[in-house]
Amino acid sequence: MATEAQSSFDILLAEDRVYPPPPGFAAQASVNDPQIYAEADKDFEGFWAKHAESLDWFQKWDTVLEWDVPWAKWFTGGKINASYNCLDRHLADKGTKQAIIWEGEFGEQKTYTYTELHAEVCKFANVLKGLGLQTGDRVAIYMGMVPELPIALLASARIGCPHSVVFGGFSPDSLSDRINDAEAKVLITQDGSFRRGSVVPLKQNADEAVKKTPSIEHVVVLRRAGDKAQIQMQEGRDLWWHDLMKDASPDCPAEQLDSEHMLYILYTSGTTGKPKGIVHTTAGYLLQTMLTTKWVFDLKDDDIYWCTADIGWVTGHSYIVYGPMANGATCLMYEGAPDYPDKDRFWDIVQRHKVTILYTAPTSIRTFMKWGTEYPERHDLSSLRVLGTVGEPINPEAWMWYNQYIGHGKSPIVDTWWQTETGAIMITPLPGITETIPGSATVPFPGISASIVDENGKDIEPGAAAGYLCLNRPWPSMFRTIFNDPDRYVQTYWSKFPGRYFTGDGAKQMNNGYYAIIGRVDDVLNVSGHRIGTWEVESALVDSGDVAEAAVVGTEDVITGQAIAAFVTLKTGIEGTEDERQKLKQHVAKKIGAIARPKQIIFTADLPKTRSAKIMRRLLRDVAAGRVLGDTTTLADPAVVNELKEQYEQMGAAE
Ligand code: WTA
Repeated sequence: MATEAQSSFDILLAEDRVYPPPPGFAAQASVNDPQIYAEADKDFEGFWAKHAESLDWFQKWDTVLEWDVPWAKWFTGGKINASYNCLDRHLADKGTKQAIIWEGEFGEQKTYTYTELHAEVCKFANVLKGLGLQTGDRVAIYMGMVPELPIALLASARIGCPHSVVFGGFSPDSLSDRINDAEAKVLITQDGSFRRGSVVPLKQNADEAVKKTPSIEHVVVLRRAGDKAQIQMQEGRDLWWHDLMKDASPDCPAEQLDSEHMLYILYTSGTTGKPKGIVHTTAGYLLQTMLTTKWVFDLKDDDIYWCTADIGWVTGHSYIVYGPMANGATCLMYEGAPDYPDKDRFWDIVQRHKVTILYTAPTSIRTFMKWGTEYPERHDLSSLRVLGTVGEPINPEAWMWYNQYIGHGKSPIVDTWWQTETGAIMITPLPGITETIPGSATVPFPGISASIVDENGKDIEPGAAAGYLCLNRPWPSMFRTIFNDPDRYVQTYWSKFPGRYFTGDGAKQMNNGYYAIIGRVDDVLNVSGHRIGTWEVESALVDSGDVAEAAVVGTEDVITGQAIAAFVTLKTGIEGTEDERQKLKQHVAKKIGAIARPKQIIFTADLPKTRSAKIMRRLLRDVAAGRVLGDTTTLADPAVVNELKEQYEQMGAAE
């Protein structure tokens, strides 16, 4: 267990610092009766079924839940379409309502009403059909934050083609691995996207990737960067988005799909091996993203809702596209960086668009804290009424800063815990009901059951020790399997504590039953809210050709939460110079993506191992954190650690 994280956490988590819903908030909130928890608990299937009625079905389900541990099927017998639920059903009474307000990094604005978005989605769905795609075929998407990205998602969903979105910051190798695993037939990308004023060469990366992906028949290219991107189109394979859309028909009825039809695959890092293709299906996912968006953010018809995540991650899937749009919300989308052209860009956007709900990540909040209060103070943020966070534990100082300088004490903060695997929010306050405590995600959403268990799977009482966070019963938006690897699904998530889902997180229940999430207990790092497997970084280091062996651990970082430290043993004849260090960092960034670039590389002649040859990560974490070293009695060669410590101290002076 991550005991060191836990102790610093305890000091800050003051249980007496309780924030009830701000005055007047509860009275206007769409859910404000605490009875909702008991009601949902009494019959969780009935609870979900009741709310499933508010989706539009082509055919109603026969059975709410088929649960053959760990295989779940929700709403079997039902026929439904996610794109239809996000678009068509709003046309009659919300046709002229804005669905997307998009702002480009250079300040360009583009808006789509629900009617306009529907037409674009139908046209693009016909384009995909025209490329020969049939229900069930996979579509890979590698784009920046442009409105065509949600259009591509909803068009794929419309014709029953599962999408696999790959974050635009990933490398060509990461892209080709994901395309190959999903055997996607079409790749949708753009010439380039903008980040801090410069071009991210998406098409060039896609070209690199597609050299290694035999399944790809066509690459659809959106023009965004124009003259600023150097690209080549390969005759026959590559097609311009705008050419294809020119004559596409806006008439494309949504396919009537089974409730359990695969909606998408999204790859995420695990403890070992390549990233896992997390599979989400249609009806249950749509239900839980819809209901959580509505309740957790107290979403109303006139809200301007802004989730700052990238659609390359699950937060963007669930809380920019499917959840808000299933509710017919107005979603703001911003293309670029928070400090472009200046560090007040977010607050400028909030003021100009009168954003009412803001959902962002703790790492961003810590960055804003570092930049200083002058930036939010330049703007009128009085439109804001609900603030959310997701992706990593929020430290109480950042929570308080968010509350004071962004919410001005009048907007409840919802700290939402969930995962790519859970599909939707699982542990969270409801802003009209829950008294919040900075640093705690509070309690499971109605219908969800969680617990903290010890190594033997025994429940740990509230107020006692930290343990493993588990979920006790199926939930509608749960992932159904790992694409192409059902055994890994069973092994990774359902075997450690039979009958329960193991989240991979360590957590603690406070005396009042609230959950405080401590962080991952497996070999997965969380850097700026992004999951990175230590194994992936280690393989990239070894792949450089210069490295004999590498071990990667997370260190604490005030901005990014965790940072990557790599202990590296070089091959004989390669010297551990500063140039070599830079070369290796560069290699990892090229191999995986910039988010995986190690912050520190420590060269060492040996790695500390147990007598059974297991790398002692705990010791490495201690070394990297500059802490007093833990127990070394089981170590094969204790001298290694002292040497490492020396190396590390020397390097610390150098960096
Ligand atoms: C962490 C992101 C503490 C956690 C939606 C989880 C959090 C992992 C919180 C999932 C939170 C997410 N408090 N930790 N509110 N939200 N996490 O799959 O370790 O990218 O297991 O999904 O992020 O990351 P993922």
